[in-house]
Amino acid sequence: ALVSMRQMLDHAAENGYGIPAFNVNNLEQVRAIMIAADKTNSPVILQGSAGARKYAGAPFLRHLILAAIEEFPHIPVVMHQDHGTSPSVCQRSIQLGFSSVMMDGSLMDDGKTPSSYEYNVDVTRRTVEMAHACGVSVEGELGCLGSLETGEAGEEDGIGAAGKLTLDQMLTDPEEAADFVQKTQVDALAIACGTSHGAYKFTRPPTGDILAIDRIKAIHARIPNTHLVMHGSSSVPQDWLAVINEYGGNIPETYGVPVEQIQEGIKNGVRKVNIDTDLRLASTGATRRFLAHNPSEFDPRKFLAETTKAMTDICVDRYEAFGAAGNA
Ligand code: G3H
Ligand code: 13P
Ligand code: ZN
Repeated sequence: ALVSMRQMLDHAAENGYGIPAFNVNNLEQVRAIMIAADKTNSPVILQGSAGARKYAGAPFLRHLILAAIEEFPHIPVVMHQDHGTSPSVCQRSIQLGFSSVMMDGSLMDDGKTPSSYEYNVDVTRRTVEMAHACGVSVEGELGCLGSLETGEAGEEDGIGAAGKLTLDQMLTDPEEAADFVQKTQVDALAIACGTSHGAYKFTRPPTGDILAIDRIKAIHARIPNTHLVMHGSSSVPQDWLAVINEYGGNIPETYGVPVEQIQEGIKNGVRKVNIDTDLRLASTGATRRFLAHNPSEFDPRKFLAETTKAMTDICVDRYEAFGAAGNA
């Protein structure tokens, strides 16, 4: 069944678990996530970015998600629009039937230039007014995502601040978060706490606290009724990097956010955990390996089935690790 983000995250908060929010662009990603959710009895957040709409087209994206709901009627699903760059983009998604939208006012509508606080409050407040009138939840963002190690915003096409960020920009301020939530009434807030988008988060194997856990704690204490969201939460599986590079790929050494750090975040109020890169890496690795082993194969269903399997395994791991399993 289609449910709102508010409803789903309220349950997660009451029961102290986190929910992975996977980005979807095609049939295989949607099926992999649903198969994993079915196996583990987990609630599902499927999110489509502007890039996904550009790739698949809004009607296909919408109907892929509706098909998932039809095939798995016992699993609650949030249809979420990821990183909306303006109230009008969010309005269009609401019209299309999304049950949740993100208004990312931390950046201007070019998706690159950090915005002023006043701008962020204004676009987010307007989006909440519109969305709540339609029973749709809203996620806002305060602070600019950036790796605490490199100061880089990350590599996602279209979304992410350009150039180096200061430590101040890269950590959401708890007092400002309280003011922001009070003024905008958002249901969920994406915070900057040391993660960044894409595969290149850390250059060395992360040890200890690579996220600003104390900051997450302080924000949660200040806005306990607003669900915290962590973007850029791929763990960048080293085994899939090795497979990609073994079979003709060329991806330099790089590290993501360890699952244990995400679990620490969940203990301290993080409820929605955004993951895109991990599924991309798994499907690319599975495709390269299958085609290298089966050079005469030309039926795309053969390697696409491998990608579905690879992605399903990662989804199962995350549902279990974040405590979502058993909560559908
Ligand atoms: O936030 C970014 C997501 O990973 C989506 O990436 O814009 O390439 O679809 P995309
Ligand atoms: P990753 O690039 O770490 O998978 O993050 C995805 C994301 O935050 C989508 O909004
Ligand atoms: Zn994001």
